[in-house]
Amino acid sequence: MRNRRAALAGIAAAASLALTLTACGQSGSGGSKEKTTDAKGATIGIAMPTKSSERWISDGKNVVKDLQAKGYKTKLVYGEDDPATQVSQIENLITQGVKGLIIAAIDNKSLDSVLQEAADANIPVISYDRLILGTKNVDYYASFDNEKVGRLQGQYIVDRLGLGKGKKGPFNIELFAGSNDDNNTKYFFGGAMSVLQPYIDKKQLVVKSGQTKLNQVVTLRWDGATAQKRMEDILTGSYKSGRVDAVLSPYDGISIGVLSALKSDGYGSGSQPLPVITGQDAEIASVKSIIAGEQTQTVYKDLRKLAEVAATMVDDSLKGKKPQVNDTKTYDNGTKVVPAYLLQPVSVDKSNYQQVLVDGGYYTESELK
Ligand code: GAL
Repeated sequence: MRNRRAALAGIAAAASLALTLTACGQSGSGGSKEKTTDAKGATIGIAMPTKSSERWISDGKNVVKDLQAKGYKTKLVYGEDDPATQVSQIENLITQGVKGLIIAAIDNKSLDSVLQEAADANIPVISYDRLILGTKNVDYYASFDNEKVGRLQGQYIVDRLGLGKGKKGPFNIELFAGSNDDNNTKYFFGGAMSVLQPYIDKKQLVVKSGQTKLNQVVTLRWDGATAQKRMEDILTGSYKSGRVDAVLSPYDGISIGVLSALKSDGYGSGSQPLPVITGQDAEIASVKSIIAGEQTQTVYKDLRKLAEVAATMVDDSLKGKKPQVNDTKTYDNGTKVVPAYLLQPVSVDKSNYQQVLVDGGYYTESELK
């Protein structure tokens, strides 16, 4: 980013009138940006983590659509949850001459050297949904209020169990968190625990497995099968007597895995109701599960808006305009505080999915059948 002005000046000299330079000095990364007349028609590289989850497929499509509407070409790649693959995909995008990068990291600490290459080529980098850590070469962050996602999950459990409304418990709860290489994980878990911990301290919520620390409850790559196995082990090891009343799950794919383990153990049939179980992303399988009375809640994040924010950040950066941000404090990546635009998450359950998801145009009625 620091070099962009100089590099662009060089190109402009070589190409005579090809570029119009406007020093504006309002870059969020501390450097100055230039207005270029060739931003339109440039190619933007989009690196998404995996196709194994429905949400990232939507993210890819949405970002492509928004960038194309702004006159850009796009190259969209998926790293299949392998950090090394993602690094080489980004290297290829840089070699192919992309003018901007939007990246949802797989391992948020693995991108340092490839992002140095991006900086050397004066490519603005937008960290998408997940913050990229440990490098100065990330310009903006487009995401949701991730701490609030966790608080919504924790509060949902408290409300559904009736804690704070006269019910004393004790209720048994088990805790799941996301991938430890995803920076969002600690925000989701921290937000949820800020609500749940006081009830754990008062013994109104009891974690029978004893697994309460983040490093005991993480789920590598957010994998549903990994979560299912852990839930099975917990049921075998800690629930020979007593039942699980609630499960904190940070993501729909994990919720579905946890539900499988519970159902195999007899929950959801006869006299053994399923526990309260949270989620995130409002993926179709989970919304259907909520409608069927299995998963209890999810946290909806409007991915259409996230894509629009990220696409606008790239567009503004390339046109020398300062992208709009609404948070300049929270997201310290260890090297710098990355200016962020955070969108608001919404708690969804059986009572409001129709209004939020269907009336809101996110899904059609028939997609949820
Ligand atoms: C997180 C993201 C969540 C969920 C999860 C698993 O980074 O914020 O919404 O999608 O990854 O894909």
